Amino acid sequence: MNTAFTKNDRRTDYCGELTAADIDREVTVLGWCQRQRDLGALIFIDLRDRTGIVQLAFDDDTARDVFNLAFTVRSEFVLCAKGTVRHRGAAAVNKTIATGEIEVAVSELKILSTSQTPPFEIVENSNVNKELRLKHRYLDLRRPDMQRVIMARSRITKITRDYYAANGFIDIETPDLIKPTPEGARDYLVPSRVHPGCFYALPQSPQLYKQLLMLSGFDRYFQIARCFRDEDLRADRQPEFTQIDTEMSFVTEDDVMRMHEGFLKYLFREYFGKELEGDFLRLPWRDAMERFGSDKPDMRFGFELKNLSDILKDTEFAVFQGAIAAGGSVRGICVKGGASFSRKEIDKLTDFVKTYRARGLAWCKWAEDGTVSSSFASKISEGELSAILEKLEAEKGDLVLIVADKNKVVFDALGALRCECARRLGILDPNEFKFLWVTEFPLLEWSEEDGRFYAMHHPFTSPMDEDMQYIDSDPGRVRAKAYDIVLNGVELGGGSIRIHSPEVQSKMFEILGMTPEEAETKFGFLLEAFKYGVPPHGGLAFGLDRMIMLLLGVDDIRDVIAFPKVQNASELMSRCPAPADPKALEELSIAVVGETEQN
Ligand code: AMO
Repeated sequence: MNTAFTKNDRRTDYCGELTAADIDREVTVLGWCQRQRDLGALIFIDLRDRTGIVQLAFDDDTARDVFNLAFTVRSEFVLCAKGTVRHRGAAAVNKTIATGEIEVAVSELKILSTSQTPPFEIVENSNVNKELRLKHRYLDLRRPDMQRVIMARSRITKITRDYYAANGFIDIETPDLIKPTPEGARDYLVPSRVHPGCFYALPQSPQLYKQLLMLSGFDRYFQIARCFRDEDLRADRQPEFTQIDTEMSFVTEDDVMRMHEGFLKYLFREYFGKELEGDFLRLPWRDAMERFGSDKPDMRFGFELKNLSDILKDTEFAVFQGAIAAGGSVRGICVKGGASFSRKEIDKLTDFVKTYRARGLAWCKWAEDGTVSSSFASKISEGELSAILEKLEAEKGDLVLIVADKNKVVFDALGALRCECARRLGILDPNEFKFLWVTEFPLLEWSEEDGRFYAMHHPFTSPMDEDMQYIDSDPGRVRAKAYDIVLNGVELGGGSIRIHSPEVQSKMFEILGMTPEEAETKFGFLLEAFKYGVPPHGGLAFGLDRMIMLLLGVDDIRDVIAFPKVQNASELMSRCPAPADPKALEELSIAVVGETEQN
């Protein structure tokens, strides 16, 4: 069989772009056989490329050898077909596809390659098992819905580059083999052959390099950067992912936020043709926690948290009283329309909050017919109950849910619960985009487990000037010049104004428990660089994969990445990670201790 591809075989048109306007044109189309239908005297082949499908027709007028070759074509064979575009005839018109009015009457056909029967059919919205799809990702990516996502991703990165280039950002590549950084997530390490016993790390982000580029005077930096973090995977996390990474010199928080808000507005305009009106809402971290129990609240609905501790400070109910006495709080939400939940559903909500370490869930249901049923009403006074209902602005048809515990548990549990209730009530519209800036994050986070402070964002984030007075006496009280951009309950990106004073940077390392010697070993190059004139600077990085998920309404991050990893950080298609060649290990002065465990 002649499978050679010659200049005569060049495509004139994409399959999905042929229309009635092309009737009588001679065309050459290339693609994969979606299906072949043999009706005896007639053969039809649906030919597919990245733009769609066109019907190839073979009939009495087709040369016999061409007709006979068409007879042998099977699904996923790669074909080159030449012919004339013609109308299908009224009865055969298929209104469901763009090219449904026409077909190509084939005069020449070439099979460029054959195919085995694929392990799953190449169709839209396949409900084939995910593992099988990932194992044969190259076939999965042939499916039209996957093709659309990957092409959308390309459009979004193009729009991104256009915006930042137009705003004076310079695209600069930073290295992928860098010095291991001990802060943040676990590093992926790469052994050095030339320096036995030494390792590079793959970057968790280009953070320090982009700061150094500001020091070098580039003023505005931008990169679509690959980042690597060895952390537990979730539906919106991958071990390697992509950031839209930026940095600017001589800016305040407001300048950085406005620049990136401008980007999101530009993206919506260019991609969806939609205007995002007005300024994005800004909420200090403390208010986000108090009102929504989360530093990334979904603003598409209410169900805000209310502190009920004042009302219940003298209550006889031991559960509420105990939490308040132990320094915690009693807080609640009012789920509008939540009285429609059955007892069984409320039990499920109780199980749900337990996954956030809450000991239980107190509830009060005010049915439409006025009857009140509750897990706690009999244990508190009537006055307390009515004060609770009033504070939560509860009405008939609502469900009040209360958690009493340590503050962290109360916030985590109620913050997640309000979203869970909204999901269950079906009130979340995926086409509504509610952006929010969360600002004034705490600079530090205390770890009970390790008995030390960690940087909440990263150790290079600047404290707020007005809080510098507490840096020694009460570091936990210091807020940072940090901001996150949140969309519909997802952290899309985050950034900060950086420390640009060598003294403050050294102080920060000290608060994080580093001795001057340790700081020197780990970040000496940065402290040295800071001696040579650092411009005040700040930046932000968006998670590109997450952004695409949200924009396209996809709920698994793997569906927006061409070749993703699965839960245990392996790639099912190539089966990586894999054991290394013993010779390579020897060259790297590495010995594997213990069992090798491949997926
Ligand atoms: P941060 O760690 O907040 O900031 O990361 C920025 C954004 O990257 C996305 N992201 C992820 N996406 C997929 N998988 C992951 N494992 C993952 N981890 C993070 C999130 C997040 O908001 N250098 C700073 C930015 C700066 O200060 O300029 C940084 O990396 O959407």
